[in-house]
Amino acid sequence: MKHIQFTFQPKASQTDTLIVPVNDQGHIHSAVQDLPDQTALTELVQQLHQSGDFLGKLASTLWLIQPANITTKRVLLVGMGEAKKLTVKGYLNAINSAANALDYSGASHVLNALIFSPPSPHDLTWAVYQNSQALQHSFYDYSHESRGEHSPKEPKLEQVSYPCQASDALTQAAQQGQASAIGMALTQELANMPSNFCTPTFLAETAIELGKEYGYEVNILDREEMIEMGMGSFMSVAQGGDTPPKMICLSYKGGEKNQAPIALVGKGVTFDTGGISLKPGAAMDEMKYDMGGAATVLGVFKALGELKPNINVVGVIPATENMPSGNAIKPGDVVTSLSDQTIEILNTDAEGRLILCDALTYTQQTYQPSKIIDMATLTGACIIALGHHVSAILGNNQTLIDNLIKAGDTTYDRFWQLPLGEEWDEQLKSNFADMANIGGRAGGTITAAQFLARFINEVDWAHLDIAGTAWVSGKEKGATGRPVASLVQYLLNEAKA
Ligand code: BES
Ligand code: MN
Ligand code: ZN
Repeated sequence: MKHIQFTFQPKASQTDTLIVPVNDQGHIHSAVQDLPDQTALTELVQQLHQSGDFLGKLASTLWLIQPANITTKRVLLVGMGEAKKLTVKGYLNAINSAANALDYSGASHVLNALIFSPPSPHDLTWAVYQNSQALQHSFYDYSHESRGEHSPKEPKLEQVSYPCQASDALTQAAQQGQASAIGMALTQELANMPSNFCTPTFLAETAIELGKEYGYEVNILDREEMIEMGMGSFMSVAQGGDTPPKMICLSYKGGEKNQAPIALVGKGVTFDTGGISLKPGAAMDEMKYDMGGAATVLGVFKALGELKPNINVVGVIPATENMPSGNAIKPGDVVTSLSDQTIEILNTDAEGRLILCDALTYTQQTYQPSKIIDMATLTGACIIALGHHVSAILGNNQTLIDNLIKAGDTTYDRFWQLPLGEEWDEQLKSNFADMANIGGRAGGTITAAQFLARFINEVDWAHLDIAGTAWVSGKEKGATGRPVASLVQYLLNEAKA
């Protein structure tokens, strides 16, 4: 992906485009000062407001090309609505409209003054982060060759300058926004790819490529090795498909040698048919996104490669298809997990937890992490409970959960906590094994997490259910790149702590 060059305090002569925030009174935001030709601009904006040509409605935009008495070639006016009512979501909508407007323009060197009007309680640094992320992210365009006739975006945008004094904090904010966007783009591309291209082997190759590009260790386990090791639960899901399963392990070492890593574990079901407990046909195509957790781990690793923070992180991705076949697991079958606990598989469509439990055991045995964060498009119940706007978070350590929620609030890639407890755990009782793999309809997101909790031994753990947030359905169908931004924010916070 082409990288935008972010700078501060440009020379006026370098700029071919100005981006200017305008409120619903027709005023340029009062914190914006010293823009080139600011006096002429102020007058022009007032005239446009009086004539009804630009009312400053939130997230509206108007291009002015070669306006009179203004030396900059283009001006993009961006409506910020009523200043007092500006919400975070409203602000993000406005900067995204600006990024979209730039997309199909000739703008190459942009001076962006939108950073001066962040909504409370946020500051300039936050605004630089969000603007940099939105602008870099606007370059993403699904471009896999199987898309067919499609002319990929060729953005003209080269440089974005912010009209303020540079500082370390601002430079880092721009870098973080950019790296998160680049990570999100990888996550989206992988999730958008059809499952006949984005196979477990393809995910493994992507990890190997990342490792080569950024210099971290990548290790791949194959079916034979995993059967040998005793991953009976993961392998029972994989036995229905001919596509070889993989366990993909990445290890980023930016911290002290002896510092225990933070582990990210991502569900990598490259297609979920449900298995013998077959899913209904409607919208089944969307189950190609069932590797959104895996794609998130890879996206975060991409961002780590770009940012190189001082921290140790491992990524573990169990990847497989969930297929019905003559060799597939059947309801009532009992399997033995890597932890030696036995599982009665009452529904083969609750496969995510079956592959994650072995990955969680493997992660603890292999890396002795200080914390584990797993992420998975795990339950339809999560969408019923929370909708598409926040991911569910559950876990055994409130500090870890609070820190993740805080990172999610900062980035606006948010989490909402659901409870865990023995009442829900009891729903997993089986007459034929240590546990069943489903706990009934009630509290489906919680019982899924409760299942995973049985495989966590005295390590701080958080589980992210991203079923509602990893992609959007409908006309805009596609992957969102969530929750890469919040995990990057969390890891950077940890690196500084
Ligand atoms: N991948 C699905 C969860 C899912 C469903 C994600 C819809 C996004 C949209 C998962 O493997 C699954 O099928 N879960 C079942 C669990 C049930 C059988 C206990 C579900 O949610 O229906
Ligand atoms: Mn399923
Ligand atoms: Zn699934």
